[in-house]
Amino acid sequence: MAVSSLSISNIPIVAWAIWIFLCGNCLDNALHQLVNVAAASGSISDLQLEQAKALQETGWWPSSTNYSSACHWDGITCNDGGSVTSIDRSLQGLGGQLKLNFSFFPNLVSLNLSRNNLQGHIPLEIGMLKNLTILYLYSNMLVGPFPFTIGHLTNLEYVFLDGNKINGSIPPEIGMLKNLTFLSLSSNMLVGPIPSTIGHLTNLRSLYLDRNKINGSIPSEIGMLKNLTTLDLSSNMLIGPIPSTIGHATNLKYFYLGQNKINGSIPSEIGMLKNLTDLFLSLNILVGPIPSIMFHLTNLRSLDLSQNKINGSIPPEIGMLKNLSYLNLGSNALTGPILSNLTNLEYLDLSANYLNGSIPYHQDNFYWMRDVNLSHNCISGEIPVALGINVAHLSSLDLSYNKLTGHIPPSLIYIKEINLSHNSLKGQIPNGFDKHHKSHTLIGNRDLCGQFKNIFPPCPKSKKSIITKIEIFAPITTFLGFLVIGGIILSRCVFKENQLELRESKDGNIFSIWNYDGHIAYEDIIEATENFDIRYCIGTGGYGSVYKAKLPSGNVIALKKLHQREAENPFFFGSFINEVRVLTEIRHRNIVKLHGFCVHKRCKFLIYEYMERGSLFCVLRNIDEAIELDWSKRVNIIKGIAHALSYMHHECIPSIVHRDISSNNILLNSEFHAFISNFGTAKLLDPDSSNQTLVVGTYSYIAPGKLLIGYLYSKNVI
Ligand SMILES: *[C@@H]1O[C@H](CO)[C@@H](O)[C@H](O)[C@H]1NC(C)=O
Ligand SMILES: *[C@@H]1O[C@H](CO)[C@@H](O)[C@H](O)[C@H]1NC(C)=O
Ligand SMILES: *[C@@H]1O[C@H](CO)[C@@H](O)[C@H](O)[C@H]1NC(C)=O
Repeated sequence: MAVSSLSISNIPIVAWAIWIFLCGNCLDNALHQLVNVAAASGSISDLQLEQAKALQETGWWPSSTNYSSACHWDGITCNDGGSVTSIDRSLQGLGGQLKLNFSFFPNLVSLNLSRNNLQGHIPLEIGMLKNLTILYLYSNMLVGPFPFTIGHLTNLEYVFLDGNKINGSIPPEIGMLKNLTFLSLSSNMLVGPIPSTIGHLTNLRSLYLDRNKINGSIPSEIGMLKNLTTLDLSSNMLIGPIPSTIGHATNLKYFYLGQNKINGSIPSEIGMLKNLTDLFLSLNILVGPIPSIMFHLTNLRSLDLSQNKINGSIPPEIGMLKNLSYLNLGSNALTGPILSNLTNLEYLDLSANYLNGSIPYHQDNFYWMRDVNLSHNCISGEIPVALGINVAHLSSLDLSYNKLTGHIPPSLIYIKEINLSHNSLKGQIPNGFDKHHKSHTLIGNRDLCGQFKNIFPPCPKSKKSIITKIEIFAPITTFLGFLVIGGIILSRCVFKENQLELRESKDGNIFSIWNYDGHIAYEDIIEATENFDIRYCIGTGGYGSVYKAKLPSGNVIALKKLHQREAENPFFFGSFINEVRVLTEIRHRNIVKLHGFCVHKRCKFLIYEYMERGSLFCVLRNIDEAIELDWSKRVNIIKGIAHALSYMHHECIPSIVHRDISSNNILLNSEFHAFISNFGTAKLLDPDSSNQTLVVGTYSYIAPGKLLIGYLYSKNVI
């Protein structure tokens, strides 16, 4: 017949025409009459009966259901005239074909048959539901092509057909759905290109075409979708470049294009998408550098460019992305140093590139990190000692297959998942590694020694260990003599791991460094302060309250406790962690000594040596004490503080600036010896950083601090 003379590709169009001709107007009129009849009569109308009958025939309701009207059935809503407006049979275990006599439902607004086991094709007659605005058929087993008759349903706003087995290509008629705001065709078996008519859907806010077999290139018309906030085209077979017109879709927030065959470079027009928060371009064939314009997208939270062929170095502008929490640039061809200065990152993957340089150690880095993967690069230098302490949240750290040297910082043992294999680490494996970690975590480091799954030789005894220490302190030959005579190095800024014992409480949640007579028990502290009773409170610091506690041993300590509400404030918690980090790194006779700390869900505090006379500020205010603080004592205080500052500025690597030297932060012991305290705002100075003049802390005291140093030392680095 007529069909035989047409090419196969014209069949849908012919069917469309026949359908319009046969069903369009005639049925409309017939249905109109039925509706009018129903509305006119108060009793059960013919249409209601027909609707009930049609619904009953679907088998989606139990057969004993009252026949006369469907309005009170489960999942049915009717209008005032008794005509069905909504059918909701989601999650009812429905099977069989999607067979409903659509011609009896002219008022249907919403059809929800999602999450069942419906099979077969979506009937073309679905195009008769002229008032349909919501169509939910997702999570079924529907097959066959996407019914082109849907193009007739110009009221449609929400279409969810995802999670079926719909095949064929997306019909160009989709462009007729002017009111469409949400279209999801994810997880089907759609093939062919994205029709360019998609550009007509100017009300579209979300478009999900992911997990199909869609091919061809992304139509440039995509840029016409001015209201689009979500575009998910991931896991398809799209080719060609990202169209530069994408820059016009300025409302785009979520853009997923991973796992396709997209090539070319990342268009700089992406920099126009100021609202973008998530950008996933992984697993494509993108080349060229990361356009630095991308780092003007300050709302970006997640950026995944992994598994492409992106080269060049990581633009330093990446530091502008203050909201970024997820960054994956793994498996590319990136060169140059690792970025630094990302303050809010939780997940960082830079693995499998050609990155070099050392692990950046910057005050604000790594605070919130959970997952760090820097493996398979050319990273050299030592692992920053404070990495494990600084990053209270770190649960996974992969530094394997690099060129790291030096010792393993003991603080790393608390990181649950750690991989340091295939580096050039040396020296003693910290206690506890054996217990906490699997055997592959350290292999491929030839010069490690100590207890670890019987893989490494035991460490050489005493004499040799002195030699090891000498190696650590090699640049400081002047202190060799002290070491040999067993003197204690008090004035050198080197992390002395042998003095620090890492301990874990019974519930495994507390982690801390103790170096006070070897032992302080959490329980003793709670007991000594009667669980931080106000009576033991002796003051407040920049944050938290300070308590005095007498331990069972007779020793008196000071405790600075971060209150629960403060602990939830990233600024205070940051200061707290900062203080831990700085004070575990340094040791000087004029710097307050940190005996230990506790970081726990319910309790966060620092343990210091106790200073009998409190702060210099208080002493100067008390007339008797101020008299007792005679001129020679005052000179000694100035000398002590000057020594400590000089030590922090010149002998510590990196330099430490306190940034809040004031009489409040200078503590005095019973002999009026001065100690610098309160390192919450102290900063470790990156030698190349430009922020060496940053002013924080107690403003009126900044100048005297500077003056003091400027006067006594010519090198002023505050
Ligand atoms: C069936 O439904 C109608 C209308 O809601 C009601 O009047 C009638 O009593 C019902 N009959 C039975 C057998 O439940
Ligand atoms: C990046 O790769 C391209 C080839 O894909 C090459 O032309 C370009 O020189 C490379 N750039 C750098 C910085 O290596
Ligand atoms: C880190 O990345 C490498 C290479 O991309 C991968 O093989 C490894 O499994 C990753 N490590 C972790 C802990 O996920």
